[in-house]
Amino acid sequence: MASLMLSGTGKLTFLNCKTQNGNGFGLSGSDFNGKSLISPKTSINAKIRVSNLKRNIVVRSSSSVSSSRPSSQPRFIQHKKEAFWFYRFLSIVYDHVINPGHWTEDMRDEALEPAELTDRNMIVVDVGGGTGFTTLGIVKHVDAKNVTILDQSPHQLAKAKEKEPLKDCKIVEGDAEDLPFRTDYADRYVSAGSIEYWPDPQRGIKEAYRVLKFGGKACLIGPVYPTFWLSRFFADDWMLFPKEEEYIEWFTKAGFKDVQLKRIGPKWYRGVRRHGLIMGCSVTGVKPASGDSPLQLGPKEEDVEKPVNPLVFLLRFALGILAASWYVLIPIYMWLKDQIVPKDQSI
Ligand SMILES: C[S@@+](CC[C@H](N)C(=O)[O-])C[C@H]1O[C@@H](n2cnc3c(N)ncnc32)[C@H](O)[C@@H]1O
Repeated sequence: MASLMLSGTGKLTFLNCKTQNGNGFGLSGSDFNGKSLISPKTSINAKIRVSNLKRNIVVRSSSSVSSSRPSSQPRFIQHKKEAFWFYRFLSIVYDHVINPGHWTEDMRDEALEPAELTDRNMIVVDVGGGTGFTTLGIVKHVDAKNVTILDQSPHQLAKAKEKEPLKDCKIVEGDAEDLPFRTDYADRYVSAGSIEYWPDPQRGIKEAYRVLKFGGKACLIGPVYPTFWLSRFFADDWMLFPKEEEYIEWFTKAGFKDVQLKRIGPKWYRGVRRHGLIMGCSVTGVKPASGDSPLQLGPKEEDVEKPVNPLVFLLRFALGILAASWYVLIPIYMWLKDQIVPKDQSI
């Protein structure tokens, strides 16, 4: 299992990563089409800047992505059908109960910084945009009429439609792994907290590449994998919590250049990442040429039309929700710790 030999507080930024063979982010020997990942011998040397400590640290991620549970073995709620029903109910409380524990306005604004939303006329797609929480951060910098919110959940999108600042946005029902936008369409691709439900994340990132214009930037915000055993157990049951190396590989394989990863987290976690974070990093990459991604993939893994056994579906769904409950408790636990433990001590 890959683990970064670094913990504690701080806002951290990947400045550059090198594989052992010196090819930058391009890790060799991998089949990212869902089966095996990188060679167990491959390691990433990541140079990370801890900005508030003003020093550089070289982090060795000495084990491979392949030794974790592969992303191609979906968790209980990592199918489009399951995500659809999950958000059928969660959309009712999403903005008021879920986001404050995991995805605050501060975090959102910090996570969007690397997206460089520098021009109000930019064309932006917000994929898995849900209730429009992240879109509210985007329209601070870009005219709402240039922003499209795409989500597979009509229930989530209904909440976005109610928000006044988003009234000029285009709202589209669709699938992140099969985007209804032409190639070379957008200046920016943003997706926050959605990748964890994609049965084939590499395909979604390949789509991000395709829909961007030459020089366009993708900004994907998502969870990070826990290192504490119990949190890892629940994370693996619930949904996809990728490792930082996985994000970088997916971006690199899709053809992105200048791939960077910025760590984020609620303030009261004081930088602790051992329980994993539902929103733990913001990964960006630049499209270096026009056209489709150089990556070739086979047919989609999940056939949403295929009938499922309702009992099996219900059982998976119930187990997934049970596992997710752990992640309702974690931010409360961390918040209490932050209140109790003196500020100069680690929590
Ligand atoms: C945790 S919410 C994030 C919503 C929003 N981006 C935010 O920042 O609050 C995840 C969203 O991803 C959507 N989603 C899950 N799988 C998807 C897919 N394959 N295509 C499009 N949207 C998807 C869900 O419906 C849900 O609205």
